Amino acid sequence: MQWNDEVVGLWPTPIFRGQVADLSVLSHFAQAGASETATGDDFFSKDDAPTGHLRETITAAVNAHFDHLDIRPAPAWRLQGRLERLAYGESRGLTNAPGAYLSGVVYIQTPKDTEALHLRKDNRPGMLTLFDPRPGFNMLSIRNDPYRDQGLMVEPQPGLLLMWPAFVNYYRHPNLSRTPQLGLFFDVVPSDDAAEDAQSSLQWDGDVHDMWPTGLIKRRLPGYDQRNRELIDIIDEMERENPDLTTDFNVDRLQGSGHTAIDWLMANIKDSVSAYFNQIGMRYPISFEIRSWPNINRFGDYHSPHNHPWCYLSGTYYVQVPEADIDQASHEALTPACISYYDPRRGTIAYDFPPGSRSSPVYTVRPVPGALLLWPSSVYHFVHPNLSTNKRYSISFNIHLQWQEHYL
Ligand SMILES: [Fe+2]
Repeated sequence: MQWNDEVVGLWPTPIFRGQVADLSVLSHFAQAGASETATGDDFFSKDDAPTGHLRETITAAVNAHFDHLDIRPAPAWRLQGRLERLAYGESRGLTNAPGAYLSGVVYIQTPKDTEALHLRKDNRPGMLTLFDPRPGFNMLSIRNDPYRDQGLMVEPQPGLLLMWPAFVNYYRHPNLSRTPQLGLFFDVVPSDDAAEDAQSSLQWDGDVHDMWPTGLIKRRLPGYDQRNRELIDIIDEMERENPDLTTDFNVDRLQGSGHTAIDWLMANIKDSVSAYFNQIGMRYPISFEIRSWPNINRFGDYHSPHNHPWCYLSGTYYVQVPEADIDQASHEALTPACISYYDPRRGTIAYDFPPGSRSSPVYTVRPVPGALLLWPSSVYHFVHPNLSTNKRYSISFNIHLQWQEHYL
């Protein structure tokens, strides 16, 4: 485990964007689209050369996707697709593809001759928007917050291939041209036959954008050893005065305590928050307040999955993390005293990809004394039980923004 002061981007959503190499195949489908309405999901059942070219192009993208996420071996899959025509005034969305691994489109015909209309300035007829799969992540966002913009809008062009994880919701803006917009929409679905697809003579040569990562900072504070001994004394004293200190939860206990060790920790939290804002691109003055509280976990104590409403960032500083006293080798699934974070992207846990791939929906950290973790408050996390008879000490905190006009 590295404690390197860098914001780690967890659970990015890869969006693949490329081009069909042989654009001459598009006219074949433009003719088919003029005479047919939706063709069902049997697009790839045809055996002609233009269909074969699109199949190979998409297959190269699918293989690149599983490779990109370290999903090895890739699961068995097959393609299904349909030619979709968007007539004047028609739109689609929001929608996604339950049960599929991936979805995408190859645009065939993308008319630009939108009639002169008096539209809202944010109207973009004919475009495609992919939505951040973490609904509500932008609810508290301020200027330059990477979570603020929850839509990725793409302008269709003939031959453009776009592919995204199937849980992502997309929206097709209304077509306001008298010429229909045509696209081959496809899904990559689980299959029983590993050899059915997956072979392509083409190499993927498009782009991959890892969209919407969730930031977590991990650092180890310099000089923690001496300070941690002082912090243990302070927390023990607080518990002597209030035996319900950690069972009767209150989020604002450490403010104004006047101890040097507490001041040291607060200064480090401030530095860490500033480093976090700086690294994610929010490089302007941001005022915030820290509300913090101590935790003492005795044998068996844990904290069920939860998040922290009404604040911007949340974190924990680790003071003492004892080793487990029970035989962990005989309990494979145990991760005593760890903290696990859960993928906030809706729908991702429907897949069962091999552990260790970048698709794993759970990110577990084994804390060490002096470690500080900081993450967006909306992320759910679980504090695993302390399985040592020694006490585990930590200090948790929330970061509340103090409003300023320049945040917008
Ligand atoms: Fe928490």
